[in-house]
Amino acid sequence: MSEISRKQFLKQSILASAALPFAPMFAGSELAPLQVPEHAELEKDEAFWAEVRQQFTLDEKVINFNNGSVGPQSIPVQEAHIDMYRLSNKAPAHYLWHELNDQRETLREELAKLMGAETEEVAINRNTTEGLSTVIFGLNLKAGDEVVISDFDYPFMLNAWRQRQMRDGIILKEVKLPLPIEDVDQAVELYRKAITPKTKVVHITHVINWTGQVMPVKEITAMAKEKGCEVVVDSAHALAHVPLSFKEIGCDYLATSLHKWLGAPFGTGALVVKKEKKASLWPLMSPYEPQSDDIKKFEFLGTRSIPAEMAALDAIEFHQKLGAENVHKRLHYIKNYWVNQVKDLKGITVHTSLKPEFGGAMATISIDGKTAGEIVTGIRKTAYFDVGYVVWNGMDAVRISPHIYTSLHELDLLVEAIKNLVGK
Ligand SMILES: Cc1ncc(COP(=O)(O)O)c(C=O)c1O
Repeated sequence: MSEISRKQFLKQSILASAALPFAPMFAGSELAPLQVPEHAELEKDEAFWAEVRQQFTLDEKVINFNNGSVGPQSIPVQEAHIDMYRLSNKAPAHYLWHELNDQRETLREELAKLMGAETEEVAINRNTTEGLSTVIFGLNLKAGDEVVISDFDYPFMLNAWRQRQMRDGIILKEVKLPLPIEDVDQAVELYRKAITPKTKVVHITHVINWTGQVMPVKEITAMAKEKGCEVVVDSAHALAHVPLSFKEIGCDYLATSLHKWLGAPFGTGALVVKKEKKASLWPLMSPYEPQSDDIKKFEFLGTRSIPAEMAALDAIEFHQKLGAENVHKRLHYIKNYWVNQVKDLKGITVHTSLKPEFGGAMATISIDGKTAGEIVTGIRKTAYFDVGYVVWNGMDAVRISPHIYTSLHELDLLVEAIKNLVGK
């Protein structure tokens, strides 16, 4: 179904199911559609990004620099989600499993295009944790097989591998990452050294949540594939944030969350499995034919929110309207905008690269002699900032993750707060 006919269908369904006795939720319902100007350096066009900000329902009392954890949905996405939710409540089984679910294949196609994958390689699920757990617990591994991980992989993914270690006797080999890394060969070498003839799998985090480091996943994957390993990529943070193409990376399995940078409803994700690997990967929840090569075998998740899933189509539409490249450039621009103003202050350590190929929107800083908690308490004397705490591998730092709706004024307040804290 095309985007237009999908919208017409929804509108007709809602009208046909009799007028809904609800007032519109958003003042933004009358929002003028966003016009995206075509000019060079759109990432610096503050008037345009102020209009983008209008497309969100923000709490002006909170300066939200914690978008890496979970991102907000734009008004068009919230409206589509709520419309479908209300429609579903008219006759849940009918609307959830038939009318709305009929758009599932459209969503699969759009996600595949967005992630540079084949349509039949994309499973729609609830989040990265579910996608990667499917892979970690679904691979055919036996006692003594080795898996390469790193000390900056996401804790719950490490836990999943450790559980396999406890149950099945696989061996985990940990790469220690000296972050930030700005040398592709260095990163590849670190992983190469951890691989032995017994290594079956290499697990790589695409964008490291602790510091925003973008790893050279394509190059590490190429090396690992040459050595005969299967490659699992944790792209929780990559989608709609930094360039992402499953085909270009060349890995076997990749999982992402749609509720982070893409701005889809909470609890939406995708798992990508290379065509020739679908049959051998066991699903986490058993369908009728667990050894089938149908990607849908990974979608037997029981009852879940179909309105949330289908509103991911509206999030994709919103992202495409802005333009993926414009988004990547803006996120990089605002990260560097504030980091460049504080990086040379006494006592500050920046744990993130400022180069576009090694970082995106997120940056992590520490301050000599201060814990993450003390930094947060200190900067909140200027304004109420929500930030991420990074207490991991000896780092005691804060992660700042702004988003496309962030204003330079908010970043100026952060710079002022940091300067106040270090006494400048
Ligand atoms: C690197 C990484 N992997 C996996 C996850 C899990 O994502 P989700 O909670 O959406 O499953 C996160 C969440 O922040 C993450 O940062």
